[in-house]
Amino acid sequence: MESGSVPPGGVLEVLGWRDGHVVAIDQTALPHEVRMLHLTTVDELVDAITRLAIRGAPVLGAAGALGVALAVRQAQQHGWDEAQLAAAVKRIGDARPTAVNLRREAEATAAAIPDGVAAVEAAALATMAATVTATHRMSERGARYLRETCGPEPLRIGTHCNTGSLACLGWGTGLGVIRALNNDGGVRHVIVDETRPLLQGARLTCWELGQLGIEHYLIPDSAGPYLISRGLIDAIVVGADRIAANGDVANKIGTYSLALAARHARIPFLVAVPESTIDPATPDGGRIDVEQRDPDEVTHIQGVPVAPAGTRALNYAFDVTPANLVTAVVTEDRLITSW
Ligand code: MRU
Repeated sequence: MESGSVPPGGVLEVLGWRDGHVVAIDQTALPHEVRMLHLTTVDELVDAITRLAIRGAPVLGAAGALGVALAVRQAQQHGWDEAQLAAAVKRIGDARPTAVNLRREAEATAAAIPDGVAAVEAAALATMAATVTATHRMSERGARYLRETCGPEPLRIGTHCNTGSLACLGWGTGLGVIRALNNDGGVRHVIVDETRPLLQGARLTCWELGQLGIEHYLIPDSAGPYLISRGLIDAIVVGADRIAANGDVANKIGTYSLALAARHARIPFLVAVPESTIDPATPDGGRIDVEQRDPDEVTHIQGVPVAPAGTRALNYAFDVTPANLVTAVVTEDRLITSW
């Protein structure tokens, strides 16, 4: 799909494996252009991940798996030794630190390396297929939970960042829940945080909701808690990049303030994730490696300076919402309401 819309059936081809290379939508070009990337080397894939052309925790997991398939092909072509191949796998896993899916799926796929190139490719493709299936199951479960918790009236749902097909394949995590609910007429409209600094909400979520025909309003990030306090949002639904063993949730910066406001107003704060986002090896949110990105992303919007030259900025890409502010976590396998 080179030209720009969701194909019939509603599933976008965000990331794929064709003739031994990775094909992906360049998410930095959306919503103005659907530009496809053709990535043939680990270097190209790592670059696409670090500049957020490929992004969102489950898609990062799938990209990590496909990256290993690229690495074994390069190893074969260039005669890499075992150490060089292991270094390439590590570089893929380390391309971004917060979404645990990336390293986890890269390492899981690398376990197939002793079985050869075909086995690695099969493992990577299986990871992609499982990622898609998981989004459908968690979406239905999350929609059921919202109907049971909030009642039968169509809901006004707040969301943050982009958690749709672009971030997850399939239906998405948070946006998948919204999509499943909407399929039953359960969505009045969606309130979308713009998601500064890189505007994933404005650029990507609004684009996906438009493609799906779901009514939505874009708001500045700082408006979310006010709208919640005025009773204009019935529930918040987001995804996560990592959930620690105690239930603390790392997600796009700005999620925590929504969770605080949701708790104050006593509305549900639902987090939808694949099981692979829950990390038993991270005991609590304080141990999550929160990515800090280039300050220029804050002082500039889409390359245009918005602060005086020389202004220093802090650019934490994620925040951590304590488990006690999360009403429920929904996955493909279960609904978790206490940890
Ligand atoms: O920096 P990004 O755009 O990769 O951040 C993505 C998010 O924070 C999403 O909310 C998260 O990955 C959860 S679901 C895809």
